[in-house]
Amino acid sequence: MDEDGLWFLWREAALECLNADCRRRYPLTEKLFACPACGEVLQIAYELRERAPEAVRARWRERRLSEDPLDQSGVWRFRECLPPIAPERVVTLREGNTPLYRARFAAQYAGVHHLFFKHLGFNPTGSFKDYGMTVAVSQARVLGAHVLICASTGNTSASMAAYAARAGMRALVLIPSEHVALGKVAQALEYGAVTLQVRGASFDTVLHLVRELSARPEVYLLNSLNPFRIEGQKTIFIELLDQLGWEVPDHLVVPGGNLGNSAALFKAMEELRRLGLIARFPKLTIVQAQGASPLADAVARGAKRITPVPHPRTHATAIRIGHPVNWRRALQALEATGGFCLAVSEAEIADAKAAIGRDGIGCEPASAATVAGIKKLRDEGKLAPTETIVALLTGHLLKDPEYTLRYHAGQLEDALTGRRIGGRLANPPIPVEPRLDAIAQYLYDEGLPHRR
Ligand code: F0G
Repeated sequence: MDEDGLWFLWREAALECLNADCRRRYPLTEKLFACPACGEVLQIAYELRERAPEAVRARWRERRLSEDPLDQSGVWRFRECLPPIAPERVVTLREGNTPLYRARFAAQYAGVHHLFFKHLGFNPTGSFKDYGMTVAVSQARVLGAHVLICASTGNTSASMAAYAARAGMRALVLIPSEHVALGKVAQALEYGAVTLQVRGASFDTVLHLVRELSARPEVYLLNSLNPFRIEGQKTIFIELLDQLGWEVPDHLVVPGGNLGNSAALFKAMEELRRLGLIARFPKLTIVQAQGASPLADAVARGAKRITPVPHPRTHATAIRIGHPVNWRRALQALEATGGFCLAVSEAEIADAKAAIGRDGIGCEPASAATVAGIKKLRDEGKLAPTETIVALLTGHLLKDPEYTLRYHAGQLEDALTGRRIGGRLANPPIPVEPRLDAIAQYLYDEGLPHRR
């Protein structure tokens, strides 16, 4: 392709093994989800070109005015940073383009002055997964795969099912039979995926099964082991910087489950720095739920590798993962950026979620681990109140309405202790008689004793 085309920012791209002692390379056209030589995760490595940063930024900005579907996608708008996929192969739902909000109530709640939410829940299927799915499903088309498959705590399956439907491919979704939010299963069914609820299995077990199945030639795996998904998720960070006028925030905070997002954000940081588009890294902080915190535990112990958690427990089902595949990259990200990794309790997640709601924003439980983590770091004096912090809200409030209703009705139980969560910001529905006087008392704050 010519100088101004897709390869504007790099000369060569290949799949590369992440194991520092192996580092074998394979062509992008091979269907691989682990290194055939050593079994380690693969990522796409680029030989980058030097370009004037202003020219690159201007090119991306100009596309905002374009009617081209690729330019209207918040992922493909930055296609120079992605692997080469011909435009006619691209499967897009105009993903990305998610808003950046200033948080007020939640900032006060967490004790910081400059808190922003990048709400990835405003994607076509309601979670950040669409950023990666558009790239990986397009690659599936390039490779001629017919069946898309994934293990999921829900959001990956919803996203994969939607993109498979757009591409006219068959989707096979495997989810744990319990602890999956209903809104997500409903999506997979509606988009036409064959949805298998695997009896008695955790996410980690289901992922193991799916990895075995993906060895079949017609099957393409869409979990975050898929290096093309990681590529798409890099654009979350690029889009954020574009929104911030390329001012790097002090701190970026994400929930951590399988740690694909953490790996993708760090990869974006590394590449943008090599390209001269940013001069420094923000701290990347990863927050896990206390019952599913293998990375936070490893960091607390000062260990160089994780010990898997055999039976992870949390009502934040999206991050109910005990054996994350991308832990190596996540550890590197923490080290290179100086970020923290910590675990927060079920009550901390639940109250933080209600605080995010009070900003008129809302999110699903896993996303709220971010604000719970920020508050905890602040309380422990590890974070200055003046830092500019961006929390990534990974999923939409309506993904898990059951959790929200239980919290506000005072019925949410701690997944670890079984005890009821008090709910500092609970706002239960109030039964009332159909009379004006009965209703009118609620017109004023005095009638609402449970409010702040
Ligand atoms: N937030 C939400 C809403 C998620 O759905 C997930 C992962 C995460 C955070 C964690 O992201 O794995 O990149 O660290 N959900 C996966 C799924 C596992 O199957 O939908 P991660």
